[in-house]
Amino acid sequence: MPDSCTYIIFGATGNLSRTKLMPALYHLEVDGRLSDNTMIMASGRRPWDQEKWISEVRDMIQERARCGFDEERFTRFAQRLHYFQGDISQSDTYPRMRELLNNDARFPANIAFYLSIRPAEFGLVTQYLSEADLLNEEHGWRRVVIEKPFGYDLDSARALQAKLGQYLREDQIYRIDHYLGKGTVRNMLVFRFANLLMEPLWNRNYVDYVQITHSETRSVGSRADYYDGAGALRDMIQSHLLQLLTLVAMEPPVSMEAEALRDEKVKVLKSIRKIPSNAVHAHAFRAQYAPGVINNEKINGYLQEDKVPNDSVTETYAAMKLYIDNWRWAGVPFYLRTGKCLAQDQSLVSICLKNPPQQFFRSSQFQQMQPNRILLSIQPKESLRIQMTAKEPGLDMKTRCVGLDAGLRHEDEVKHDAYEDLLLDVIKGDRSLFLRYDEVEYAWQVVDPVLRVWAVERDYIPHYPAGSWGPEDSSRLFEHPGQEWRNTLEPDEAS
Ligand code: BG6
Repeated sequence: MPDSCTYIIFGATGNLSRTKLMPALYHLEVDGRLSDNTMIMASGRRPWDQEKWISEVRDMIQERARCGFDEERFTRFAQRLHYFQGDISQSDTYPRMRELLNNDARFPANIAFYLSIRPAEFGLVTQYLSEADLLNEEHGWRRVVIEKPFGYDLDSARALQAKLGQYLREDQIYRIDHYLGKGTVRNMLVFRFANLLMEPLWNRNYVDYVQITHSETRSVGSRADYYDGAGALRDMIQSHLLQLLTLVAMEPPVSMEAEALRDEKVKVLKSIRKIPSNAVHAHAFRAQYAPGVINNEKINGYLQEDKVPNDSVTETYAAMKLYIDNWRWAGVPFYLRTGKCLAQDQSLVSICLKNPPQQFFRSSQFQQMQPNRILLSIQPKESLRIQMTAKEPGLDMKTRCVGLDAGLRHEDEVKHDAYEDLLLDVIKGDRSLFLRYDEVEYAWQVVDPVLRVWAVERDYIPHYPAGSWGPEDSSRLFEHPGQEWRNTLEPDEAS
């Protein structure tokens, strides 16, 4: 059983806490993963009392409990909850919090602070915590979880790191990227390093190109406040998709310990070829959704969303071509792509192998056989598929694609949310699925040249209809006409 601790969530009444953090903590309770004394303190500005907070949490859990709501378990969970009303921008909030923690024996001495707040507030809140002596480890550990984005660009990430470094050691900082907690993403490590089968193919000799896609049908919804200043490149590619790329491309680490893993991931990020500013258009593509239809429902364009300025050129779709200049991957393009209001929800890694040296089994010289692909679907389906060519039944020598499929979760196996793993890892002190600062810094170095060019090109952005697979022009990133976007797991649905 992990240590007992006090989990303090700043921004507890916000969206992330409602939809992810509180349900994840409840599920940890249901699974018996929280030690008896663990307490969960919600810090928020709203003038709520304990009763109101518990009824709010009840609603959050009722909406999201994966095995149905259980009154008895909720009652046990509710005993861990405490609401602390305070304004995080006011320094006198923190001594009050310290008094409460010191004088109420219900709160264990180990403390994890989860900063589910605006990124601009990370530095100041950490400073106030330190000034109120809340980061002092004399009686128990102190860990601070920082949500993404860590900075707004390379310079601001460095400034934030310098500020946090005044109050915290690196091993106290847990920079979260919830993608790393997803089951199939973790499976990438097992798949690659517990099987010998793929390793001989996993390099420039056999791989033509790699694609990593995260597509969503969701719009920006009520998040325009944040999103319009961020855009798809910062929101998804700088963090989640580059992390996925490191797991696909890294060398085997010397062990599965946090530092060994992070060392290998950093090596990949360091080897990504820098994009010169005059080559940004050859390496990156952006677009914004226009009105369209998703699931038979009319969808507004981005510019019609609440709180989006009507001249915004923020990208809701971004695609990039990257090269990793090392022995394993020299010359193999990695295409990353993400977008909101696309045709389907799909997170997919597609590794497309080269064609065999001779194409014996095609009926005309124009007909290309489909190359082999290794497909790892992260969501909605968690599965691994190897796409091969086989002969069609019948008298003619005709071929078709077949998939060797492996579902990665049996139907009766519970699907854990990424936050459950990650919240538990914080209590255990396991940092392997959290980002070390140098990972963040190198990731910013990859996207920064693109951000700088896009920041000054404010006159025009291409559009795509909501519900489509994005702008066709993004295929201009491909190296040769045989390359194409792979949208879904099923070959027939591929574009
Ligand atoms: C978040 C982004 O980090 O990840 C969101 O800020 C995005 O814009 C989300 O929708 C996607 O993650 P998931 O787990 O919901 O697919």
